[in-house]
Formats: sequence, structure tokens, C-alpha cells
Amino acid sequence: MSGLGLVLLVLALSGPTLAFVPNGNGASTHVSISSTAILQKVTETCRAVAEAEGHEFKPTGSSPEEIVQACLGPKGRGQVSGAKFHAALQDIYTQNGLVDRDFANSAPHHFNSEAFLQGRGLIIEGMVAIKANIQEHNFQAARELLGRVLHTLQDFYSHSNWVELGNKDPYINLIRPDLPLENLADIQTPTCKDCTRKACPNPILPNILKEKKLTSGYVGIFSAAKPKGKCSHGGSGDLTSTTVPRGGISKDERRPDNMALHDAAVNAATAASLQLLEDIRSAAGDEGFLRLMGVARSAVVVFIIDTTGSMSVDIETAKTAVYKIIDERKGTQDEPSEYILVPFNDPDFGPIKRTTDPDEMKKEISKLTATGGGDIPEMCLSGIQLALTSAPAYSQMFVFTDAIAKDIALKDTILALMKSTRSTVSYFLTPSSGRRRRATATASFKDYEDLALASGGQAIQVSKKQLHEATEIILDTSTSALVTVLQRARNPGKQETFPFVLDESLQNITFYITGTSVTFTLTNPAGVVQSQSEASGKLGTVHTVGNLWRVRLNADKMTGSWKININSNEPYTLKITGQSTITFIYDFVERFDGPHPGYAVLTGRPQAGQPANLILSVMGRKGPSSTTVGNVSLVRVSGPEDVSNSNVTDIGNGDILVTVDVVPEGEFVITLRGLDKVSNTEFQRQSTTQMSVSKVNIQAVVDNSLEPGKQYKLPFSVMTEGFGGQYSISARNDKNFPLSFPNSLTLTTGQYTNATLTITPPANTPTGTDVTLTLDAKSANGADSNYAVLRMSVVTKITDFVQPLCDVVSVRADDCPKDLSQCKPFQWELSANLTDGNGTGIQSITLRQGNGTLTHSSLTDPTVQALYNASCCSQIVEFVAVDKVGNVGKCYHSIAPSSGLPALSLSVPLWLCLLVSAFSGRS
Ligand SMILES: *[C@@H]1O[C@H](CO)[C@@H](O)[C@H](O)[C@H]1NC(C)=O
Ligand SMILES: *[C@@H]1O[C@H](CO)[C@@H](O)[C@H](O)[C@H]1NC(C)=O
Ligand SMILES: *[C@@H]1O[C@H](CO)[C@@H](O)[C@H](O)[C@H]1NC(C)=O
Ligand SMILES: *[C@@H]1O[C@H](CO)[C@@H](O)[C@H](O)[C@H]1NC(C)=O
Ligand SMILES: *[C@@H]1O[C@H](CO)[C@@H](O)[C@H](O)[C@H]1NC(C)=O
Ligand SMILES: *[C@@H]1O[C@H](CO)[C@@H](O)[C@H](O)[C@H]1NC(C)=O
Ligand SMILES: *[C@@H]1O[C@H](CO)[C@@H](O)[C@H](O)[C@H]1NC(C)=O
Repeated sequence: MSGLGLVLLVLALSGPTLAFVPNGNGASTHVSISSTAILQKVTETCRAVAEAEGHEFKPTGSSPEEIVQACLGPKGRGQVSGAKFHAALQDIYTQNGLVDRDFANSAPHHFNSEAFLQGRGLIIEGMVAIKANIQEHNFQAARELLGRVLHTLQDFYSHSNWVELGNKDPYINLIRPDLPLENLADIQTPTCKDCTRKACPNPILPNILKEKKLTSGYVGIFSAAKPKGKCSHGGSGDLTSTTVPRGGISKDERRPDNMALHDAAVNAATAASLQLLEDIRSAAGDEGFLRLMGVARSAVVVFIIDTTGSMSVDIETAKTAVYKIIDERKGTQDEPSEYILVPFNDPDFGPIKRTTDPDEMKKEISKLTATGGGDIPEMCLSGIQLALTSAPAYSQMFVFTDAIAKDIALKDTILALMKSTRSTVSYFLTPSSGRRRRATATASFKDYEDLALASGGQAIQVSKKQLHEATEIILDTSTSALVTVLQRARNPGKQETFPFVLDESLQNITFYITGTSVTFTLTNPAGVVQSQSEASGKLGTVHTVGNLWRVRLNADKMTGSWKININSNEPYTLKITGQSTITFIYDFVERFDGPHPGYAVLTGRPQAGQPANLILSVMGRKGPSSTTVGNVSLVRVSGPEDVSNSNVTDIGNGDILVTVDVVPEGEFVITLRGLDKVSNTEFQRQSTTQMSVSKVNIQAVVDNSLEPGKQYKLPFSVMTEGFGGQYSISARNDKNFPLSFPNSLTLTTGQYTNATLTITPPANTPTGTDVTLTLDAKSANGADSNYAVLRMSVVTKITDFVQPLCDVVSVRADDCPKDLSQCKPFQWELSANLTDGNGTGIQSITLRQGNGTLTHSSLTDPTVQALYNASCCSQIVEFVAVDKVGNVGKCYHSIAPSSGLPALSLSVPLWLCLLVSAFSGRS
């Protein structure tokens, strides 16, 4: 059981059958608590970063998209999409909510049944794993863990008697393993009075309150038994609440009889979430923390390059493209926030190079040379797999190759990874000779076309000589606010007119058409027409190279209804993109029941034969209230266009739940239409990743981190609503850790069949490594299949829970004048000794507050000596020491007169009466 209020943001639409319908009386939920804390911490961090860089942080509002825009704002021109921040928040909220499904019956996950030590154990282990993942830049894994840990931490305040004991502040010991949990009521101690009425405010026994003993409510989903005299959680799902002492102490809901306690629990849970986030922020650093939260310029450039002998021209072209992006985008909003490079050859691929430093990327790519290989296919898909499992979701990837894939067996894995990451993969194919190009029995260039289309990318075939002309597309797509207005494919080709609307917010609108012997005409809202033969016409410029047409619209008068008529007998694709901050992200979800019902995000394909549910977050130019959502439809990309309409329910914060009764057959995408209230123009967007439904369902939950050298057992179950029989099972992981699992399962229609997979990370796996496991089940004839994508982290069990300690040795502030207006020419100085006890040792010391200089002796010294000096005008210093496993200690000192007192009123030397050095490992 769990949660303050409820699970996902979806409750607003729960029907009468669900409990916990927010009823307008101000109840808080895990999502609202997490959201308050995260947005506040991100805002603080953005402000600190802005101040350090010497500019102002002035968001136009409090929505995530406005915070991102302000946080990354002043770096030159351009728009920044809030999509990545929203996606990161959704990751956290989703995992937070899933604790109620996946661990419904686990007392420690919810601080039920007095499982305090185990509950804190989960929080501490989670924090260690989060920090290890951040250090390895595995932000996705870190976010997922953060969502879960926050859930458990927040539940403490709802399910224990902490607030009944009169506490207003959070219990810091829950995130401080070096501090004991004290005064816990033992199992023999009765804690609650029997509640004979419908509701009893605060049924905790008087002596428990007096002695300040900590207890929490027992829960029984299947049994009413509980230790004698103990409190229950309460509620209809909790059978123990009918055993004396009856009633419950959970503050999940806000009822007339418990409003004050619910509010106190919410306030403490919010403050506790802030403390935990502050600890993570201190360990990760401000930049790392913002990247964890998806607050980064959204362009991530990913190159996957074939380095076999015949590729020298392609490699030079790729280099030129990278240099161009780096040089043209430097200092702008569109500057990529990360560069990723994956070379592949035969039989090798990788290693992956990831960097945020453009010069580093230049260096890495300049090292690439074409060698080896031959007239044989290469390990292309292995390279793509490496990129997909490492890059952030929604990345743009570019593959350069001139050969077919040798590792075509990975195709299903690649499809699953593309669908789950929503990344777009485009291919620059330069078949150099008939032999290299010729298909083998299993693989052909058509595979690249399939993969490109499935991810919303393009397969561009062009001669090596002309390749450089085709790479403009890389520059077009490496921007911070790329959106797709329309994308369609026709195979076989036919003449067709595609209508679409362009809204006022769109800039840099570009059309791409791939196909041979294509002709097209474009018509704007005023009826002006341009054909493909007019290179520089009234509507835009047309450029063609290989099988690619690229049309860049002129910048003026574009708003309104357009159409493009395409004619070709050959297969063709059409894609219309632009830059805009109006965009959306989505997840397919399924409803789950239980005491705290909600919606869980699907990592595989949605179920066939039932309505599909999805949650969309729509981002406007000035927050969610600046758009109105119109129609959401599922549309087949490769016609005929069965449009299936849907019911849309607004669930607040710009999030909507969409229910689609009839899902199209085959692969489809999501289209969204709505109104931009800023310009009062209609807009149209579509998802690029193709999706389809499946009769097969795979359920698997990773309940823990993996440990190096230890086998981890993952139970999973598979079900089909289609024909029963033998289903083949395949599983792969991107780190090549040894796996064992049954190669096939015999399924009975409508029943889950259980199985177990084991994965064993080698003993020398570094802590913070993350592993992506794809699990695939396919019917014997291959007609039906589904997959699950699971992320796991490998974390070494740590025993160092000691924070670095700070001793302020001396403060010399005698020179500082009492009158602040005269502070300028004077300096003050502080020295401190920093130690890590017998912990792992201090790894970094960074200045958090204060406009002075901080120096320190070597970090390998047993006692690190830190020296700070600053102008007397800068009166506060705070610095953070982080040890090798992420324990955080802080030094804080202020030479300011205590709160409110003007410095003038003090007649004794400042440093004497104001020595408020605090050192603590807490925030
Ligand atoms: C995109 O459009 C803006 C404004 O219309 C223009 O300044 C910018 O140069 C364009 N970017 C590209 C890559 O063409
Ligand atoms: C939504 O779709 C319906 C049916 O296709 C159509 O009649 C209606 O005009 C559409 N509304 C908007 C706002 O596009
Ligand atoms: C959509 O709403 C209509 C009218 O309220 C209802 O009849 C229909 O069943 C709903 N469809 C879904 C998928 O909920
Ligand atoms: C399969 O696993 C689930 C959850 O672990 C369990 O409840 C169920 O009884 C198992 N089914 C079989 C047939 O073993
Ligand atoms: C600070 O560390 C230095 C070097 O280890 C030592 O000599 C000094 O006594 C320490 N001072 C205090 C107050 O601990
Ligand atoms: C060092 O670690 C041991 C246990 O490993 C512990 O008993 C001892 O108190 C620690 N010493 C300090 C100074 O933290
Ligand atoms: C920090 O100090 C420098 C010079 O010492 C000054 O130019 C700058 O404005 C100060 N910044 C803040 C935020 O006080």
C-alpha cells in the first residue's frame, strides 16, 4: 500500500470504482509533492548557475518549459524545447507511482508495519546507486531510482506517526546512514487506541506521544492479523484496520477529520524530498544535477560511423559536418549539449565516445581513419545498439555506411530500443560497388530503410562524391526545438495530396522527400504554388541530391493550411519539420488495480484488442495553459490513413490522458492538433517513432541493483491473447554480461507463464554501470511478438557512510568594516580542515556560495586544508566536500550579522559574536 494520495497524475479521471479521487479539497499526491520539490530545487540550481555566470535568471512563469527556457536562456538566439525536462519529470513520476504496483505488498517500500530500518535501507541504497549512476552519466537509470526513493521517503510522513509527534521538519536521519534511527516502538509496545467511530483524529496512545516513540501503521492486503495493540494503515484495502485497535493512521487522503495532519505530512514530505534532492545535487554538482533533470540544450549529436577501408570519403564528410555544427553553433541555444561517437568495423565496434566538450569531440572524430574490413558486411547494428542504449531518449542519430549489416540478427532488438527511446536514426548510405551493396540471404539495404522509417528517420542513398551535400540534414536536425509536423511513407508510390497546417511559432521549416522519380507541388494558404523544378521559388528553395529532396521554406507568411501533392510510382517518404517550443511527449500506459490504482508506462507495445491509453504532455510557448489540445489521433504512416479518434481527458499540468477505442492495424504514429493561444493559430505535430499493438504481453520488474560478480535473477512472465503454443524467447544486453533464460515458452491463451532470466555482471564491473536488457517473445510463425526493455544498474555494496567532516580552524574578518557600504577594499579569510574519517576519501571540494576564492591542499592528504578568502562584501561562504562514493559534507560560515540586525548595531568584533560555523553533512 502506499502513497500520499495517489499514484500517477491520472487520478483526475478515475471513475467511481477507484479510490482516492482528488475531490477538490486540496489533497496532495506523490506527483504533486515530487513536482513541487523538483521544480524548486531546479529553480534554485538554475539561479545559482546563472549567478555564477553573471546573468539574471528570470523565468516568465513556473512551468517546466519556462524554467528551462530561462535556465538555458541567455546563450544567444534560438528556442529551447522543454520536452527533455518534461520527459525526465515523467520518468521520475512514473517510477514513483510504480512503487504502488510493483511493491504494493512490501512494507519497507512504504514504511508500513514499522519496517523503519529496512525502509531507510532502501533509501540509502537507492541514493548510493543514484550517485554512482550520475557519476557514470547514466542519467536515465538515476532518474528511475530517484522516483522510487522519493516514493518511500514521502510515504514515511504519511504512514508513520512522525507528524502526530508534533514534528514539523523532516527526519534527516532517514537520509543519513551515519545517524541512528532511535526511539522506535518495539514489537511488544502497543501504539494505538481502538477507534470505534468512523474516524478518529490521532488515535496514537498518549504514552507513545509523550515518549515520542516512532511507529507506523500495519497493513494486511490478505490478512487481518497484526501484532497486539498496533496501529493500522487504514482504508478499505487494509484488512488489519478491522482488528482492534481499529481505524488507521495513514494520511494518504485529505479528509475532514485529518486535514491538519495530512497537510503536516505533505509539508514534511516536501521538505524531506528537497533535502534528498539537495544531497544529490551536492554530490552531482550543479551541472550534473541539471543534466539529471533533463535541463540541458536538447541537441545531442550522435554519429555511428563505419570505419572500414572504403569509407575514407564518408569519414571526411562526417568530420566536416561535425566541425561545422561545432563552429556554427558555438554559444547558441542550438549548441549540442552532448556529442556521441560510435565507430564500427568488422568484427569490432565501439568503443563509444561521449563528451560534452566540443573540442574533445573534434579530437575524437579527427582520429577516425578508414582501415580493414573488405567486401563484407559490417557490425552496423551493434554500433547502433551501443548508441541507443547510451544516448539520452529523443536523440538524433546518423549512421554512415556503405555496406549491409552483418549483425542483422539484432534487428528486433534495435526496433525495440528505438521504440522505447524515441530516438530517430537516419542513414547516409553510399554503396560503393555492386558487390558490397548486394543483399545476402538475410540482409539488404532495405533493412536500413525499414529501421529509418520505424524511428522517423530517413535512409539517404547518395554517391560518395555528393555525400557532403546531403549532410545539411544533420545541421537542420541538431537544434534545441526540433518538431515534426507531418511524416508519411508510401510503398508502392502513388499520387497523393497531403494537407497540413503551419502555425505561427514554427521557424526553419524544412521538407524532406526521399524517393526516385518524384515530382511534387507545394501550395501555401494563399494558393501560391511551387514545383520541385523551381530551385528558388516564391515559397522556398529546393535542393536535390541522391534520392533526397530538401525544401527550405522562405521565412515569411507561412501560417495556415498548406498542401503538398506528390507523384511517384516508386516508394517515397515525406517529412516536414520545423523549430518550435510547442511540442509533446507521450507514453503508452496501462491501468493497474490494487489499493492504489494508477497507470503504468509500457516499455513494450500496447495490447491488441482493447482500447489503447496514452498520456501526453503538451508544451506551449508560455506553459501548458498557452495551448488548447484539439484532436489526438493514431494514424498509419504508410497509408491508407485510418484515423482513429480518441477521448481526451485533461489531467492538469498540461498532461492529458487519451483513450483510443480502435487502434489502427499495423504501424501507426500519434498526431496532435490544437490551438496556440499566444498567436491564436492552429498547430499540428506528430510523433516520429512508429508503434503497433501486440497480442503478446511481457511483465518484468527489476526490483534491485545488480552487484558485480553476483548472479541476479529476474522473474518475468509472458502471456498471449492470440494463439497459444511455443513462443521463442530471446534476450540481449548491451554489456554482453552472461545471460541464461529459457529459449522458448509454451503459452496458453490468456494465461501468464512464468520464467526466470539470470544475468551476471562480472566481478570487475565498475560501480554505476548501467545495463539495458531487451527481452523478446515471438510466436512460432513470427506473426506476433512483443518486447520489454529494462534498465538495470550495477552498484557495489558500499560500507562507507561517513560524510566528509569540516572543521573551521580560523576565521579572520577583523578588517571587515561594520558599514557594509565600505566593504569593498577589505578582505576576510577562512581556513578549514576537511577529513573523511576512515571513509573512501574526499574526491572533490567545490564552492557553493560566496564570491571569493577557495584553494585546498592535495585531496590525497589525510587532512585536506582549505583556504577561502573573499571581499568583505561577500559575507557567506559555503563549500561542499564529496567523497568517492558520494557522501556529502558541507562547510558553511557567515560573517554577516545575524538575521535582520544591521551590521552597524554591533559593537563587538564581528567574528566573535557571529561565528556561526556549522559543519554538517546535511543540507
Ligand atoms: C532558423 O531561423 C532563424 C530565424 O528565422 C534564423 O535566424 C536561423 O539562421 C535559422 N537557422 C538555420 C539553421 O537556418
Ligand atoms: C477532430 O476530428 C473530427 C473528426 O475527424 C473533426 O470533425 C474535427 O473538426 C476535428 N477537430 C479539430 C479541432 O481538428
Ligand atoms: C468516448 O466518449 C464517448 C462519449 O462520452 C463514449 O461513448 C465512448 O465510449 C468513449 N470512448 C472511450 C474509448 O472511452
Ligand atoms: C507467476 O508469478 C506470479 C508473480 O510472481 C505468481 O503470483 C504466480 O502464482 C505465478 N504463476 C505460476 C503459474 O507459477
Ligand atoms: C588542521 O590540519 C593540520 C594539518 O593536518 C593540523 O596541523 C592542524 O592541527 C589541524 N587543525 C585543527 C584545528 O584540527
Ligand atoms: C573506522 O571504521 C571502523 C569500522 O570499520 C569503526 O569501528 C571506527 O569507529 C571507524 N573510525 C572512525 C574514526 O570513524
Ligand atoms: C564578484 O566579485 C567580482 C569582483 O571581485 C565582481 O565583479 C562581481 O560583481 C561579484 N559578483 C557578485 C555576484 O557579487
